[in-house]
Amino acid sequence: MTSTSADGLMPFHAMEILKRAKAIEASGRTVCHLEVGEPGSPPAPRVIEAVAKALPQAQGYTNAKGLAELREGLAGYYAHQHGVAVDPDAILATMGSSAGFIIAFHAAFKPGARIAITRPGYPAYVNTLLGLGFAIAEIPVTAENGWKLTGADIVAAHAAEPFDGMLFASPANPTGAAVDREQMGDIVVTCKRLGVRLISDEIYHGLDYRGPSVSALELTREAIVINSFSKYYCMTGWRIGWMVLPDELVRRAEILQQNLFISAPTLSQIAATVALGEREYSEQQKAGYAANRGLLNDGLASLGFHMGSPSDGAFYAYADISRFSNDSMSFCEAMLDEAGVAATPGVDFDRVGGNRYVRFSYAGKQETVDVALERMRAFLK
Ligand SMILES: Cc1ncc(COP(=O)(O)O)c(C=O)c1O
Repeated sequence: MTSTSADGLMPFHAMEILKRAKAIEASGRTVCHLEVGEPGSPPAPRVIEAVAKALPQAQGYTNAKGLAELREGLAGYYAHQHGVAVDPDAILATMGSSAGFIIAFHAAFKPGARIAITRPGYPAYVNTLLGLGFAIAEIPVTAENGWKLTGADIVAAHAAEPFDGMLFASPANPTGAAVDREQMGDIVVTCKRLGVRLISDEIYHGLDYRGPSVSALELTREAIVINSFSKYYCMTGWRIGWMVLPDELVRRAEILQQNLFISAPTLSQIAATVALGEREYSEQQKAGYAANRGLLNDGLASLGFHMGSPSDGAFYAYADISRFSNDSMSFCEAMLDEAGVAATPGVDFDRVGGNRYVRFSYAGKQETVDVALERMRAFLK
């Protein structure tokens, strides 16, 4: 385990790849985009229709917690999908899960508190925490253990360097690893025993290929749960998400929202309310990701990448490139320049071991995956 001091902000290497890809496209060449973690499809048609209708009347702020219809819809979602009763008053609509993190950190911790995250993990966790004056503890998760976080990992890291919070995602970015109910229970119980506040990032819920996603809310009311319409509902740019708070943090989170963001975007809240009823559309998108998932995993394995079994969830393949390179950034740059395939270097997610890995997103069209594999075959020769 390593920890980083509060001045260790990192660059976002994926953005460097994206900038390079745009320059290549401007020169007239095509690029297969497997670097971005966003669905290729728009939101459900009814979402667009509802927004078009609401546009003339939706100019103002909503109340800080968000539209009652949206929060009631979300309570319905928890009752239906997870079998748990959640009070709509404990739900806050946020400007994407990204804003949810800021509110969660300031609602639950004092500046300077240490929050544990997994390594590899979503890069914004480190940057947001450090940028806001919190400290981090990184807990390594390994391919051998399916990239899953365990209670024992948390105990070992806490013994080496105590921390106040644990932020983790299941399914995870960049590995797609998802814990089952028992494994989630282990994490919940361990955090409780150590007095560590759990923040469960459930943004990839619904995008699960081995069984239904387990919410921390099924096991505890002490965790902060963060979720978003970005991924499952294909709404990355709408900047709309939500959080569920334990009773004692609801008022403080509301006050933070009033002051930091006032409210989540009104039109996006209207869109999100409708999106909740359009899960059939989301399931159709998911079927496309599921097909891509197998195709990409098999294809990468046949090209010589070391692949485990396909990811449990989300829409990423985290591929071991050690047969080809020990420098993931240079590998991604060369693959982009020479083959026109954009992927994200593992160093974005893991500063220690990430040079051995590259993340491929399979959230786009099947054709993109097919062409990318073809181009990579020629490149790797
Ligand atoms: C694990 C994880 N959490 C949170 C986010 C941020 O999502 P948003 O702010 O769009 O809800 C992402 C985006 O890729 C992610 O991968």
